[in-house]
Amino acid sequence: MEFTLKGATVRLVRGDITTIETDVIVNAANSALVGGGGVDGAIHRVGGPEILKECRAWVAEHGKLPRGRVMSTTAGALPAKVLFHTVGPVWQGGNHGEFTVLESCYARSLALAAELGHRRIAFPAISTGVYGFPIDRAAYVATMTCRRFIVEEEGKIDDIQLVVYSAQDLAAWEVVFEDMVATMTGDPT
Ligand code: APR
Repeated sequence: MEFTLKGATVRLVRGDITTIETDVIVNAANSALVGGGGVDGAIHRVGGPEILKECRAWVAEHGKLPRGRVMSTTAGALPAKVLFHTVGPVWQGGNHGEFTVLESCYARSLALAAELGHRRIAFPAISTGVYGFPIDRAAYVATMTCRRFIVEEEGKIDDIQLVVYSAQDLAAWEVVFEDMVATMTGDPT
């Protein structure tokens, strides 16, 4: 499932993000950037030890990475040019800034990709695992933020892949994606 707007394509894909060939892979990390389970674990396993080394050096210099922010390292053995690390919000019921922070993860990643001259990017479903963000709400934030970026920053990004892992998550994202496309009839392409 995909939509194209202002020359940029947003694709909903089911799979393992460590196998996605793109310019930028985004990791759903923690503030200490020490690796973890879920997608973070998979990325470090496949990408190799160089990534953790760079993360440690970055934290030693700058301190912990705040939620909603993004930093960049080598992608190691991953099929991408660079790897971004962003820290999503922990779901606390929705009234603790979770939506703003999640939006910031996507928006800042897209902005950094554009700033570094990368035109293709792949995101996991940030915060929807250990951090507990409800999948349908996360899908809405992710898709809407991508849509806004490609309209407001026209021509800077060509291809965005939103990569979900399970069949159940895909089904939830598809509902949101369809709604998004249905409300886009007024957008000039
Ligand atoms: N490819 C794509 N998506 C994946 C993969 C993978 N290989 N592995 C897991 N996922 C999915 C999960 O199914 C979930 O939908 O990524 C989504 C995010 O889940 P988590 O990895 O748990 O990330 P998050 O909820 O943001 O929690 C971050 O978990 O691993 C730790 O160090 C990490 O402390 C941080 C926290």
